[in-house]
This record gives sequence, C-alpha cells and structure tokens, in this order.
Amino acid sequence: MTQRHGSNRNRILIIGGTGSIGRLVTARLAELGHRPRVLTRDPDRARRSLPVAVEVRAGKLADPTAVRAAVHGVDAIVMTHGAPYGFGNYAAVDYGAVPAVLDALGGHRVPVVLMSSIGVTAAGGPSRDVLDWKRSGERLLRASGMPYTIVRPGWFDDGSDTFQRVDLSQGDLREYGPVRRDHVAETIVQALLTESARGRTVEVFSADGPALTDWPSAFRAAEPDRPGDLDGVRDRPGPPLAAEPEGVRADLRRFAPTLPDTEI
Ligand SMILES: NC(=O)c1ccc[n+]([C@@H]2O[C@H](COP(=O)([O-])OP(=O)(O)OC[C@H]3O[C@@H](n4cnc5c(N)ncnc54)[C@H](OP(=O)(O)O)[C@@H]3O)[C@@H](O)[C@H]2O)c1
Repeated sequence: MTQRHGSNRNRILIIGGTGSIGRLVTARLAELGHRPRVLTRDPDRARRSLPVAVEVRAGKLADPTAVRAAVHGVDAIVMTHGAPYGFGNYAAVDYGAVPAVLDALGGHRVPVVLMSSIGVTAAGGPSRDVLDWKRSGERLLRASGMPYTIVRPGWFDDGSDTFQRVDLSQGDLREYGPVRRDHVAETIVQALLTESARGRTVEVFSADGPALTDWPSAFRAAEPDRPGDLDGVRDRPGPPLAAEPEGVRADLRRFAPTLPDTEI
C-alpha cells in the first residue's frame, strides 16, 4: 500500500464498517495506527459502536456523491457490507457496492479487500440469490484491474470459539466450515497490509491447531488468480458472461475495458 500519510498510517475506507465483521476490522485497523473511515446510513449508531478515532461519514451506497466523498483521499478500501439475509436487496447492496466504489474511484487504483462468502461458486439456481450477486461482485472486481484480495468466510462463529488456527483455502470446495468472526477480520486486515495477498481469492476457516502468524507466507502459498479470468484460480468455472444480468454486463463494459467486447 502506498504510504501517503507519513509513517504507515493509511486512510482506509470500510464499507460495511458498522457490521459484525466490519466493526472488528475497523477497530483493529485503528489499533494498528491506521485511520479508518466508515460509510454508514446511520452515523449516530456508528459512533456508538466504533472507537472514537474512527471517522464516520453518513451516506448510502446508492448516492454517488456520498461514495465519492467517502473514497476521496483513501489509501485502501475494505468491503464487508451485506444486505440483511432473507429480505435484502442483494443486487443493490451486496453487488452494487462494488460498481459504486469503482465509479467513485474514477480509475484511481488502491488496494481493495472484498469480503464475499463460501458457496458463491455453487450458486446459479433458477432465481438469483445473495451468493449469485456476491459472485458477480467478485467477478467485476477481478476484471476491474484494481489490486484486490477476495476473502470468502465460512460460517461465522459456528462452534469455532476454541479454534486458534486460521486456515486459508481455495477453490470454494467446502459447503460448510466454521470461522471465528475475529479470524475473518484479521484475515481481511492482513490481506490489506500484505503485498503477497494481491490478486488472490481465499476462503477462510477456523481450525484446531496453532495460530497463524506468518501471513505473508500464507498468502504467498495461495495461488494468484489468472489475469483476465473472471473467476478465482481454483474455482469451478462460473456462468458465461451472457448469463450475467444486463446491469452486471454494463458494469463490466464500463469498469473492465480490457475484457473483449465480444465476450460481454
Ligand atoms: N453469517 C455467516 O455465517 C456468513 C458467512 C459468510 C458470509 N457472510 C456474509 O457476510 C455479510 C454480513 O456480514 P456482517 O455480519 O458483518 O454484516 P452485518 O452485521 O449484517 O452488517 C451489514 C453491514 O452492511 C451495511 N449495509 C447493509 N445494508 C446496506 C445498505 N442498503 N446500504 C449500505 N450499507 C448497507 C451496513 O451498514 P449501515 O447499516 O451502517 O449502513 C452494515 O455495516 C453478509 O453479506 C453475508 O452474506 C455471512
């Protein structure tokens, strides 16, 4: 990450910074001496739940002016947002945050860590669900040319509280696997701060065993995604581009100019 504020104090925007994972990411970044900035629909609630040093900006993802102001001057972006499961507008939130951020960046390149989910590559049922929209967001981010890392957590805090080890894997092969929320947050923070995490897609689980301490090696051990490929390097092939909704294809045409037009 470019050091633009002297020492290593980076201005980092967290989209979803008030969420159960985003709060942990934000607090950890503040603890490490960075300058987190959170975009939220409810700034009063955000201030009550976040460390005082965190800069809170009011705004909605659907408001390009608010998102542009939020990305202004940042060194990196974390995305841990998500619409409420079962009744959320996944197209607008889980997916929509990605084009909203790319639009606001206007071609400016900064490291982006996107939290997605295990199971995205098994999506593709008759009606689009949250995982389909998350996979589309992953695909757009990969194609955008941003220096990215995609982190796909297992199931949050599901009987994993005594596990100390963080397990990174690839290929989205596990339908189930627990992960501690603090392990998800630490993986996201380390992905942001570790150069060897760029261009990689990893799943994260908690397991029995010693804690992970050598993050650069752990990320280096993960295979990088293939440049120009919309899917993670070890993923089963995703749907053809023609099967993506027109709005996603329009975003790909706009934000992924290196993809051949004929494919979109
Ligand atoms: N539960 C699991 O086991 C599991 C496993 C893998 C992945 N996931 C994924 O993790 C995500 C949830 O993470 P979490 O528990 O940290 O989230 P959370 O506590 O539900 O918080 C959601 C965050 O997203 C933001 N958000 C929601 N709707 C929004 C909207 N319309 N506009 C702008 N921002 C919006 C919220 O911001 P404000 O309210 O502050 O505006 C909040 O910061 C979900 O997408 C889920 O699919 C969950």
